[in-house]
Amino acid sequence: MAFDLVIVGGGRMGSALATGLVSAHWCEPEKIVIVEHDAFTRYVLGQDLPGVSVVASLELEHVGPSTGAVLAVKPEHAESVARLVGACGVTRVMSVVAGLSTDRLSAVLPHGVAVVRAMPNTPVLVGRGVSAISGGVTATSDDLEWASSILGAVGSVVRVSERHMDAVTGVSGCGPAFIYLVAESLIEAGVHQGLPREMSRELVVGTLMGAAEMLSVTASSPEELRSQVTSPGGATAAGLRMLESRAVRAAFLEAVSASAERSRQLGR
Ligand SMILES: NC(=O)c1ccc[n+]([C@@H]2O[C@H](COP(=O)([O-])OP(=O)(O)OC[C@H]3O[C@@H](n4cnc5c(N)ncnc54)[C@H](OP(=O)(O)O)[C@@H]3O)[C@@H](O)[C@H]2O)c1
Repeated sequence: MAFDLVIVGGGRMGSALATGLVSAHWCEPEKIVIVEHDAFTRYVLGQDLPGVSVVASLELEHVGPSTGAVLAVKPEHAESVARLVGACGVTRVMSVVAGLSTDRLSAVLPHGVAVVRAMPNTPVLVGRGVSAISGGVTATSDDLEWASSILGAVGSVVRVSERHMDAVTGVSGCGPAFIYLVAESLIEAGVHQGLPREMSRELVVGTLMGAAEMLSVTASSPEELRSQVTSPGGATAAGLRMLESRAVRAAFLEAVSASAERSRQLGR
């Protein structure tokens, strides 16, 4: 039986995508197949995603003229998986593999296969990711629309030029980890000020969510929002002065630069 969508790799990213697609009714669950080589992961996916097929290997019969494939394996497996997908006749591929360029993927796929490169981030696990996509030389606007509809099931989607993918990796791909570090530090700081840890956690998570919502729903820039809560000579100003004296802003510039550079290295 031919499927609409093949997801190769049923780990965190592949399973998050499959879950999002099923709950968004992107297609019937029966039209999705996950190819996953770990037996226990296959068992868990089978329990979690009723109707979705979970198999150990991709077969020719799984692929029809309109079957698309998502590559969601680790970078070291990606090119061999792409060869297999191409050999089974898939004509449209979206890769979420960090650092892997559309040119490198096209080089191992049959001529003419459309390739879309995507960089999602971990909040796709809760349907609140943000993903960047860019098309390879053979990708049409239909292919980008298709990729966008898949990632749109688990968050928002931004189209970028492929030359920006390493920067995207540094900002939104790695960004959640930077924010988790901020959260961790603020929770610890609350504890140091005498708050019970759970209370500190609740306050910090609520603060991050509220601040993110303010950024999202108001037309104000982060600078404007920050100045609105910074009374002259007040408590916020005292805290911000300390952060500036420790060069936190420069540290973020360097962190994103280091992550983008590492992404460039992985792609080479
Ligand atoms: N997680 C993220 O936040 C994130 C963000 C952006 C991009 N990505 C990209 O998404 C990709 C997947 O990441 P992940 O976090 O989902 O990794 P993961 O949890 O390790 O999932 C990959 C899964 O694919 C399986 N697999 C490997 N080779 C296979 C093959 N030939 N056929 C079938 N299944 C195979 C792996 O099994 P084994 O473990 O047994 O090998 C594993 O279960 C990576 O390339 C990463 O760069 C991830």
